[in-house]
Amino acid sequence: MLHAVIPAGGSGTRLWPLSRAGNPKFLHPLTGTAQTLLQATVSRLEHICPLSDIMVVTGVAHAAAVARQLPDLPERNIVVEPSPRDSCAAIGLAAALIARQDPQAIMGSFPGDHLVRDTSRLVEVLEQAAAGAKQGLLMTVGITPTHPETGYGYLECGEGLDWPVRRVDQFKEKPSHAVATQYLESGRYLWNAGMFVWRVDVFLAELQRQQPSLHDGLMRIVAAWDTDRDTVMGEIWPTLTKISIDYAVMEGAAAAGLVATVPGDFGWTDVGDFHAVAEALPADEFGNVLVGDDKSDVVLHDVTGSIIVPQSGRLVAALGVSEIIVVDTPDAVLVCRRDRAQDVKHLVDELKNRG
Ligand code: GDD
Ligand code: MG
Repeated sequence: MLHAVIPAGGSGTRLWPLSRAGNPKFLHPLTGTAQTLLQATVSRLEHICPLSDIMVVTGVAHAAAVARQLPDLPERNIVVEPSPRDSCAAIGLAAALIARQDPQAIMGSFPGDHLVRDTSRLVEVLEQAAAGAKQGLLMTVGITPTHPETGYGYLECGEGLDWPVRRVDQFKEKPSHAVATQYLESGRYLWNAGMFVWRVDVFLAELQRQQPSLHDGLMRIVAAWDTDRDTVMGEIWPTLTKISIDYAVMEGAAAAGLVATVPGDFGWTDVGDFHAVAEALPADEFGNVLVGDDKSDVVLHDVTGSIIVPQSGRLVAALGVSEIIVVDTPDAVLVCRRDRAQDVKHLVDELKNRG
């Protein structure tokens, strides 16, 4: 049905110290099964296209791990970036590569680090999105918001198009808390799920209009892809504008009336923090959730509502605590109140400032 692209590059700072720049969230088994988030994403996408039409765009530091986790994915379908330039460059490169084979191909871009509960519903939603994309719209998937989350993009819904598709009058990426609260109260906004479906020619025209230098750089890279890839990736890639697709293209495309959305009622979570990870996994009778494969090295006594992530092989023991998060990795331990899960990113900022 479409070409699927998985940009896999974010480091998931709210999942520190489990998710690190060197071992990011998508490589971890946070699915409640042995599959990692990336493997689960590919398994889902195989319901809409063959493996040969699935492309992963990832950093040089993660390419080997991606290939190991996806042994059946053809090697040429792993596109390797020498350095992270954020999602617009990654998704733009994929679009330009797909356009070489078929300029009007339908492409979907899917984060490799989310969870979806109902794959068959996802497939239906993506079919609706592909129908909108064929008509020249840049399609998004909208999630009914539950709280004024500031880490998401917001889609202001406008006129109804072909049911259940609605035009997006405004795309606002990561609003302030005050603005997100207004949006929530207005009842007119959906969260952007971070999935995009469009015709590559429509997307590339919009990229050229809004980000001409990034577009030009990508065209020069793709022109030399088969002959001189390493040289152009080495020379041009580091000069590309470092910007996310949401700010770079989607906000402006919505203002130009080109964006529409389909409701993503398939049980979506971006598992952005430990609280969200735990919500997606089964809890024991005391409300505790153990994250990871090996549950034998945890001893809990009078512990309730807590999230324990044993990742070091060491014994983790806790007594008489509730609603806390403990993450034990070989070189760092996190202890945090469960209701502060979102704020773990501040710790990471502080660590970065220390250098
Ligand atoms: N290859 C590559 N290189 N991929 C990247 C890079 C990069 O430099 N930077 C980000 N990505 C990938 C991420 O791995 C993820 O799959 C996707 O691009 C989105 O990037 P995130 O960094 O995770 O974005 P976000 O979570 O802050 O926001 C996006 O997702 C939200 C939903 O979870 C936006 O689309 C929001 O609007 C949306 O609400
Ligand atoms: Mg994300």
